[in-house]
Amino acid sequence: MANPIIHPPWHIPERSVTPEHVFRNRRAFLKELGLAGGGILGSAAALQSAESAAKSAGKYPAARNPKFNPGWRLTDASIAGSYNNFYEFTLDKQRVKDLVGNFQTSPWPIQISGLVEKPQTIDAQELVDQFTLEERVYRFRCVEAWSMIVPWTGFPLSKLLEKVGPKSEAKFVRFETFNRPAQAPGMLRLPNYPWPYFEGLRMDEAMHPLTMVVTGIYGKPLPKQHGAPVRIVVPWKYGYKSIKSIVKIEFIKEQPKTFWETLAADEYPFESNVNPKVPHPRWSQATERVIDTGDRLKTLPYNGYAAEVAKLYGKT
Ligand code: MTE
Repeated sequence: MANPIIHPPWHIPERSVTPEHVFRNRRAFLKELGLAGGGILGSAAALQSAESAAKSAGKYPAARNPKFNPGWRLTDASIAGSYNNFYEFTLDKQRVKDLVGNFQTSPWPIQISGLVEKPQTIDAQELVDQFTLEERVYRFRCVEAWSMIVPWTGFPLSKLLEKVGPKSEAKFVRFETFNRPAQAPGMLRLPNYPWPYFEGLRMDEAMHPLTMVVTGIYGKPLPKQHGAPVRIVVPWKYGYKSIKSIVKIEFIKEQPKTFWETLAADEYPFESNVNPKVPHPRWSQATERVIDTGDRLKTLPYNGYAAEVAKLYGKT
């Protein structure tokens, strides 16, 4: 993003990624995860989570919501999955997928805390199993002026909020990503970054029907490089607001700082709605490059979602 691309001299092979045929075979899948059961939740919880994961695997592909099926040409899945911003691993977009092998995404406790009626710590799969998954085709626009169109699987964040009950004093939601330098080599390579990655939304942005909790892409559970097991997607904002691999959701009174804002407040403000008229201090935001075709398109206000969201900002 704000940084030059570094090509690290080391390479971790993708040796611990669960092969899909194993994932689909529930027994083998439980056995495999049971062996690695000494994680944060302990082995009993790991087994429970593995059961749950196996159950969730049957939920893909989820039915596409016809309201979010605009007939746009989808970005090639393999290009979307090999051009990722996930600085916990590397700054090199094309190498993220090669460096996620040691990243353990199950069990995955998520803490829901702060000004909320039902604070809890719950495994991601158990949480996700409480919701009906659907697929939505969204445009996605990175602040670096590239874009893609992808089918996300998940559910509206508002449904989760309704379940846990933010208190009326809660005005913002703060999200946080995992903090595991041993599994994410970029965290060690960038010691001056304010890890773990954190983001935030106003409560009305979090409640907006377009804001999604995302668990899958292209009809399958999220691959690690896209932010497994659970991320947020806010399609009218620059991509860095769509925080990956979340472990904490906190309801708070004051506007939280964000990761990128902490690093460069003038370049990455809290609101960060896509706006072709406001250039980044170092480049134009008027156009965007489609990552698979290389086409250059005009960037749309609110990334094409103005009709749905402009009213949140007092615009019509
Ligand atoms: N979330 C975390 N935890 N770490 C990151 O580096 N990068 C952000 C966002 N979420 C990032 C993150 C940025 S800059 C973008 S553009 C999108 O993830 C990229 O999502 P994708 O790789 O699934 O396309």
